[in-house]
Amino acid sequence: MANIIAVLNQKGGVGKTTTAVNVAAYLARDGYSVLVCDADPQGNSTSGLGFDKNNLGSTLYDVLFSHSELDKAIHVTNIKNFYLLPANANLAGAEVELVSTPGRELQLKKILEQLDFNYIFIDCPPSLGLLSVNALVAATDVLIPVQSEYYAMEGLSQLLTTIGQVRQALNPSLNLLGVVITLYDNRTSLSDQVKNELERHFGDKLFNTMIPRNIRLAEAPSFGKSIHEHDKWSKGAQAYEALAKELENKLNG
Ligand SMILES: Nc1ncnc2c1ncn2[C@@H]1O[C@H](COP(=O)(O)OP(=O)(O)O)[C@@H](O)[C@H]1O
Ligand SMILES: [Mg+2]
Repeated sequence: MANIIAVLNQKGGVGKTTTAVNVAAYLARDGYSVLVCDADPQGNSTSGLGFDKNNLGSTLYDVLFSHSELDKAIHVTNIKNFYLLPANANLAGAEVELVSTPGRELQLKKILEQLDFNYIFIDCPPSLGLLSVNALVAATDVLIPVQSEYYAMEGLSQLLTTIGQVRQALNPSLNLLGVVITLYDNRTSLSDQVKNELERHFGDKLFNTMIPRNIRLAEAPSFGKSIHEHDKWSKGAQAYEALAKELENKLNG
């Protein structure tokens, strides 16, 4: 069975998309079959992998509401073993349309359980709305990127409460895979404080690998590339390669 990993934090700009795309790309390089499911109407993982959001053919939205067959919405990327279920602004309508759908929290699960991949990463929107709840119901695991900043902890207790509620009501085996520190800047003592605080809270759920703030990571999506394709020797590339290894060991080691 696939490892289905929801990459979730209701804050925007914490590195969800960057993490989903680049960890997925390294696992694909390691020979696993991997899908990124873009569940954010902003479609950043879709455009970051080189797709034109306005010219996509079928998207996740179309599959969710039976406008398209699933097969037609699985897009081949230019990385071997790496596929995308894309999204664009159409998906914004899903939050509203799902409300009146029977089994509204189960719709993404019904889609993803038809698929046969080693790893599926769900790139969640920056909210705890129905799309994110669908992601948590569909997922086997949750990965939480946390930006290294003063307000890092803010919102995390609400996020953990939501995970707990989904576990209780709809997905008892949902596993908190871990928390990963992103946008880390080792020149500031603030970064150390954030790290210590997260360590105290999450113990061994905190990934050892930290993702540094690295300009190459910010550039790569504008070329439609993963960090490995854009600059494999960059600090950002090395960090995501290490994170992919650590994640793989946690799940299968
Ligand atoms: N480690 C990093 N170093 C530099 N820029 C980053 C890093 N991680 C993400 N970014 C950039 O920061 C912005 C937000 O990241 P993103 O992954 O889109 O966050 P989210 O999906 O949580 O909104 C994007 O422009 C992205 O390219
Ligand atoms: Mg994003």
